Amino acid sequence: MAAVASQMTPPARTQLVHAPDSPMVELFRTCSRIAASEATVLITGETGTGKEVVARLIHARSPRAGKPLIPVNCGAIPETLLESELFGYVKGAFTGAVGNRRGRVAAADGGTLFLDEIGELPLSLQVKLLRVLQERSYEPVGSAESVPANFRLVAATNRDLAAEVEAGRFRRDLYYRLLVCPVEVPGSSRTSWSGSPSARRGPRSGWPTSRTTCAPPAACRQRPPGATRHRWKRLEPARRSGASSAPATKFRSRP
Ligand SMILES: Nc1ncnc2c1ncn2[C@@H]1O[C@H](COP(=O)(O)OP(=O)(O)OP(=O)(O)O)[C@@H](O)[C@H]1O
Ligand SMILES: [Mg+2]
Repeated sequence: MAAVASQMTPPARTQLVHAPDSPMVELFRTCSRIAASEATVLITGETGTGKEVVARLIHARSPRAGKPLIPVNCGAIPETLLESELFGYVKGAFTGAVGNRRGRVAAADGGTLFLDEIGELPLSLQVKLLRVLQERSYEPVGSAESVPANFRLVAATNRDLAAEVEAGRFRRDLYYRLLVCPVEVPGSSRTSWSGSPSARRGPRSGWPTSRTTCAPPAACRQRPPGATRHRWKRLEPARRSGASSAPATKFRSRP
């Protein structure tokens, strides 16, 4: 098993980001390549497979690494709060808005905005996010004044966004905006990957490097959700002691 050591700050500690087989090694190499670009990244994969690990790796290897990575779990923040959480608000925007407050988009200035569980983003905010991506500016809640936005978007979901689009729960135009650079994190059952339809599909247009997907065919995805997470947990003692029989390459996966 190959392993890459990653400096995690804060807190100051070292995490080993494991690449247990060649598709994962290739995935991490791909992450390093796409990190250099400004392209929007959509990370998909089953729960617990390492989507956030991949997002942090992309940020850490990007020219924006010196700036913050701001994660927002779109599924964890109530719909009514999410807009002001993302875009901030001005004094008097609503009852209780006693002063101006910056949102997470502003906090990500110069860095990376990581929209986790983007499939949970309400339709009203999908429109607003699309506008921000197109115009690179936004209005805080209660304000008519545009504020410049300077972030790279990395989004993740364990949902089938194409199906969400078909079901009318996710905007098609936003979906295609996100698909600039798709990265599919493989599950733990990994046979016959190289011949899988998604591996053959390769990168989307506009992305010049080698393939960004290495997913197993649907037939190989028969494992309980979170099985990968459990596998990483079993590796914890070795990770803590820093022990690894495999050669390690240094990766910073946390900003
Ligand atoms: N390649 C890896 N090397 C080491 N640890 C990993 C790796 N991939 C995932 N993990 C660990 O597995 C756990 C789950 O990873 P992560 O949170 O990135 O998954 P996820 O796909 O975002 O899950 P969810 O869909 O539940 O949000 C974390 O504790 C993470 O540190
Ligand atoms: Mg996650």
